[in-house]
Amino acid sequence: MPIRAAVLRTFCVLSALCSVPRGLGMRWGGQGSGQELTTESVDPKVLFWTGAFINMSVVVGLAIYGIRQLRDGFPSRHRSLMITASLLVVGFMLAYALKLVFLGREDLSVWSQAAVWTLRFHETCVLTMVVGGALALRWGSQLCTTRSFTLNSDDPEADPALVNRHRRAGRTAVIGAVLGLLSSGFVLMGMYARLS
Ligand code: HEM
Repeated sequence: MPIRAAVLRTFCVLSALCSVPRGLGMRWGGQGSGQELTTESVDPKVLFWTGAFINMSVVVGLAIYGIRQLRDGFPSRHRSLMITASLLVVGFMLAYALKLVFLGREDLSVWSQAAVWTLRFHETCVLTMVVGGALALRWGSQLCTTRSFTLNSDDPEADPALVNRHRRAGRTAVIGAVLGLLSSGFVLMGMYARLS
């Protein structure tokens, strides 16, 4: 199938470009009279998760900056930043679906119990972020015509219950994202450690 071949080839090229020694360290192997620097390609799955970690860092950065913009009195910047962060999350979910098709799942049988629990915690955080973010987007878009968003006193006042719901969902999503990022760092470190 041509698409499958193209995606696999892209992963291989990226993997080759990022050809770093396993375990992220330079390894010297004494062969013959001199010592040689040996390099091996990173597993494409680890490469995928490294990209996902960078993506999640950007999502968290945008979300925190988005809240700051709101507190500084710029609701429209808040909206744009939150929508951009949400699009990156959607982009990750599409990439993850492709990863499942082309690279398959992780082999958790070689993971330690602690690593599996860290992964489960991370997945819970991501689920919290996705559900909270979707609700915040839904309720946030209902605020767009209110003076909370437009800052125009001619516009109708927002329903305080809606504002509260939006805030609670938004804060839950951002907390999920921050904890999800931290736990993904540990999950990724474990992946690199298992390479060596
Ligand atoms: C259509 C998109 C969105 C719009 C139009 C919007 C609009 C607003 C507005 C007008 C407020 C201020 C409410 C008030 O105090 O009167 C607010 C607060 C807030 N929003 Fe959004 N929002 C959007 C998306 C999001 C998303 C996706 C999240 C999180 C994932 C989020 C998180 C928050 C948080 C945490 C607060 C409270 C900030 C604080 O503690 O001061 N928003 N939003």
